[in-house]
Amino acid sequence: PTPVILDCDPGYDDVFAIWVAAAHPEIDLRAITTVAGNGTVEDTTRNARIACTVAGIQNVPIARGAAQPLAQPLKRADWIHGANALGGVDLPQPVVPLDDRSAVQLILDVLADAEEPVTVAATGPLTNIAHFLQVHPHSQPRIARIVWTGGTTGRGNVSPYGEFNASTDPEAADFIVKSGIPLTMVGLNITYQAQITREVRARIREIGTMTSLFGAALLERFSSTYDAYSDMPDGPLHDPIVVALIADPQVATTTRTRVDIELRGEHTRGATVIDLLELRNLPKNATVALELDVARFWDIVAAAVSSLN
Ligand code: BDR
Ligand code: CA
Repeated sequence: PTPVILDCDPGYDDVFAIWVAAAHPEIDLRAITTVAGNGTVEDTTRNARIACTVAGIQNVPIARGAAQPLAQPLKRADWIHGANALGGVDLPQPVVPLDDRSAVQLILDVLADAEEPVTVAATGPLTNIAHFLQVHPHSQPRIARIVWTGGTTGRGNVSPYGEFNASTDPEAADFIVKSGIPLTMVGLNITYQAQITREVRARIREIGTMTSLFGAALLERFSSTYDAYSDMPDGPLHDPIVVALIADPQVATTTRTRVDIELRGEHTRGATVIDLLELRNLPKNATVALELDVARFWDIVAAAVSSLN
C-alpha cells in the first residue's frame, strides 16, 4: 500500500475522503492534517475527529494546521457546508483525540519515519503544505507527489474561473505548482462527474452501518445545498476522487499539461490556467485528471463505507 498523508478541511466531501483513505487496502494512511477552508480550522479539525470517531478510525494521528490562508483572509464555504462545515447533521462528540503536534510538525515526523517518500492527498486549500515546504525545504524529496482537489479546466465555483480551494489560497497553490513536486490536479471538470444521485444516496444508506447512516445524512445535506445554490440538483462528491485516484489509477484518465495559478488577474485571481491545447509553449508541469470512471469510483466509496464501523 501507498503511504499517504491526508490534508483536508472537512466539509461533507472531505469526510468521505478520510473514510476512503482509512479503508482502502492500497492506502496506508499515516496522518490527517486539517486546514481552514470550508470552515475555520477549529471546525474542520473537530469534523475530522468526528469523521474518525463515527467510523472507528483510531490509530491515525490528527493534527491542526493553518487558521488562515498565506496572504488573504479566510472566506469559508458556509453556503455549501453550513456554519460549522458539517451543517444540518447531528454531530456526535469527537472521541478520537487531537495530536498535540502542529500539522507542520506531524508532517515532518511522518516523512522522517517513512521508509519511502509519502504521497500527500490534499482536499482543501494548500496552505499547510506550502507552509511546511517553506519551513522545511529539505524535506521536499520525502514527498513522492501531491494529489489535490483544486482548480478546474473550465469554469469556477466561487468566481467565473476560480475554484474554491485554489481561490481560498492562491499563493499556496502557486507555491506548490512551482515547487517541482509531482502534482496531480483533480479539478471541478472531473469532480462534477461524481454526482450524488438519489441512487448513490440510497446505496450508501442501505449499507446500514453507523458510518453509512452518518454518511447518508451528509450526502442528503450536501445534495440539498447544491440544489439550492447551484444548477446541479444532486451535487458532486469532489474530495474522495483524490484518494480513489491514489489507490486505483484506473479510476480516472489524466493528461500531462501546463498549469499556472493566476495571482494578479483583475477578474481572475485564483484561476487555474491550464494549457490543454499547448498554446503557450511552456514546459508541462502537472498532471490533470479528465474523465472519471463513475461506477468504479462509487464502488470504491461504497466499499470503504462498508468496511468501516
Ligand atoms: C472543493 O471545495 C470544497 O468546498 C470541497 O470540500 C472541495 O474540496 C471543491 O471546490
Ligand atoms: Ca475539501
